[in-house]
Amino acid sequence: MLDTVPSSDVRTTRTVSPDQLRDLLAETGAVVHDSVRLSELTTLRVGGPALVAECGSTETLVATVRALDAAGIAVLLVAGGSNLLVDDAGFDGVVVRVATTGVEFGADGVTAEAGANWDELVAATVGQGLGGLECLSGIPGSVGATPVQNVGAYGVEVESLLRRVRLLDRATGAVRWAAPAELGFGYRTSVLKHSDAAVVLAVELGLDPSGMSAPLRYGELARVLGAEAGDRRPVARVREEVLRLRAGKGMVLDAADHDTWSAGSFFTNPVVTDDRLPQVMAAITAHLGEVNVPTYPAPEGAKLSAGWLIERAGFAKGFPGEQSPARLSTKHTLALTNRGAANAADIVALARTVRDGVYERFGVLLEPEPVTVGVNV
Ligand code: EPU
Repeated sequence: MLDTVPSSDVRTTRTVSPDQLRDLLAETGAVVHDSVRLSELTTLRVGGPALVAECGSTETLVATVRALDAAGIAVLLVAGGSNLLVDDAGFDGVVVRVATTGVEFGADGVTAEAGANWDELVAATVGQGLGGLECLSGIPGSVGATPVQNVGAYGVEVESLLRRVRLLDRATGAVRWAAPAELGFGYRTSVLKHSDAAVVLAVELGLDPSGMSAPLRYGELARVLGAEAGDRRPVARVREEVLRLRAGKGMVLDAADHDTWSAGSFFTNPVVTDDRLPQVMAAITAHLGEVNVPTYPAPEGAKLSAGWLIERAGFAKGFPGEQSPARLSTKHTLALTNRGAANAADIVALARTVRDGVYERFGVLLEPEPVTVGVNV
């Protein structure tokens, strides 16, 4: 076992009753729901009860967060719920449900409110012949979550398309547009991740009106499109192939398919620094013999593939088997999945087993990607 236990992302301060909450939010326009199970609001479908304040407009969202912050009540923001692992005990502050939906198109871009469904936005931009987002097709969740962890797939990160992000600064209560340069983007991260400092209200994305995709950078995608790296293809074709690839890996939500009851990739791909790389490669060779290890260039080292390491550490797709309520996806080892009856403790136990096994075998520590509430992996 590892002795470093990262602290939970969200802490609560003060509990509140439904009536107190209704009084507090009377002016904001939020709709209060008592005792909603967070398993109903998350794609992993685990998580206990919480009070929910549903915010259908940006104005309501701003007023609600300001009121809760002023009263010292802990806030958990939930929109698409696709990157959240919540404890079975639930959350004893208030869940602010981001239910805004506004989308406005320009000739070479789009502005969308935080609660808008990400893939519907991607589909709409593709439908209008606007290029840029097609590689990010089929990703579950909301628009507002995309800058927080700099969502990426198939060679594109949202950072490269963002013109600006509208934020509520929770320390001052001020609302303003922030430039991408202020947001400290990195691989699956930004200054907004693991931070309570700001709430994303809207994003503005710059897109290409030519109807062609961004230059293709991901080998697997270029291959299925019969393209070379750097080529462009019509946006609708690229979207179609991305959806096909993702679906093949169980990464497109489908209520009937338990392989998609997940938080997407549960671990980020680990970056191993140059000084440690020889040691890790030696450990891999010691266990597997001479093998081709997928590596991608990264600042200060190499990015390895978490899915590959998990599988080579002995955790096959579907681990630990049919009797378990929480299993690795049968299509991709990087997704931890709920087979229907899993609770948070089952997911956490599986995550620890996988993380510890990879660490013991290869000396690489995998970091969870989802935001955890009340649990530590
Ligand atoms: N692999 C295995 N076993 C598996 C799955 C993959 O050995 O079960 C190997 C593959 O053979 C390949 C390598 O792992 O050599 C990489 O696999 P893949 O192309 O599926 O990509 P990934 O690194 O697992 C990343 C992102 C995905 C994104 C895809 C496509 C992370 C943590 N994951 O996955 O993002 O969609 O690339 O660009 O960055 C997400 O972040 O939630 C997510 C789904």
